[in-house]
Amino acid sequence: MSDSCCCNCGEETPSYDFKSHWDKAYVKTPIDKLGWYEDNPEASLKLISACNLPKDALIFNAGAGATTLIGEVLKKGYTNIVVNDISEKALNELKLNLSANNQNNVRFIVDDLTNPVSLLNLKNVDLWHDRAVLHFFTTQQQQNAYFDLLRNAVKVGGYVILAEFNLEGAKKCSGLEVFNYNEKMLQERLGTDFELVEFFNYTYIQPSGNTREYVYTLFKRVA
Ligand SMILES: C[S@@+](CC[C@H](N)C(=O)[O-])C[C@H]1O[C@@H](n2cnc3c(N)ncnc32)[C@H](O)[C@@H]1O
Repeated sequence: MSDSCCCNCGEETPSYDFKSHWDKAYVKTPIDKLGWYEDNPEASLKLISACNLPKDALIFNAGAGATTLIGEVLKKGYTNIVVNDISEKALNELKLNLSANNQNNVRFIVDDLTNPVSLLNLKNVDLWHDRAVLHFFTTQQQQNAYFDLLRNAVKVGGYVILAEFNLEGAKKCSGLEVFNYNEKMLQERLGTDFELVEFFNYTYIQPSGNTREYVYTLFKRVA
């Protein structure tokens, strides 16, 4: 792929105001037509299952949007889930899709992963999950803030799943530039306190039928 956008929205890269950009994306397009919508988040579920976590493990989904993953994780019996997004509109959509009963097992935090406030209180995370969020952070400052937050939140013995556009992947998504990764680059950013457990490249099929190339990684915090 050259520099085409992930969702064929035809947008130019705007001056980056994360919040209004993403609020607009979730208002403008039905959830199941978004260029990152997954009917079955099978790759994430495979890696979550490999962690073999107890059902009360603290699972944090960074930049969750309105992902179907939360419903799937609840179906598997997990009871201690924290979801975050910068877009309140995205999290409202997610809430609408969860039953009232299920919502008791989920906490919602609207905050910016690159300039966190409430998220600074997040500790003892057993599993940090990010699909298609980190790759939007293109500056060193944003990336440093993200990884500082992750290190502050994930406990020793905890896991990290990072699923981002790989080096062959799209260079834009939702009209925004992205920073592409492979497993080695993610290992470098996490440092030696984290060990790579498993990784694979994965071709995601968008609702439009187009494909996007991801790398899925699972790390364990060892120190
Ligand atoms: C491509 S979507 C992926 C959503 C979800 N992870 C999924 O797989 O369906 C990127 C998400 O990251 C969120 N996001 C972007 N920048 C963010 C930031 N600085 N802090 C928190 N969330 C952010 C967006 O609102 C959006 O929901």
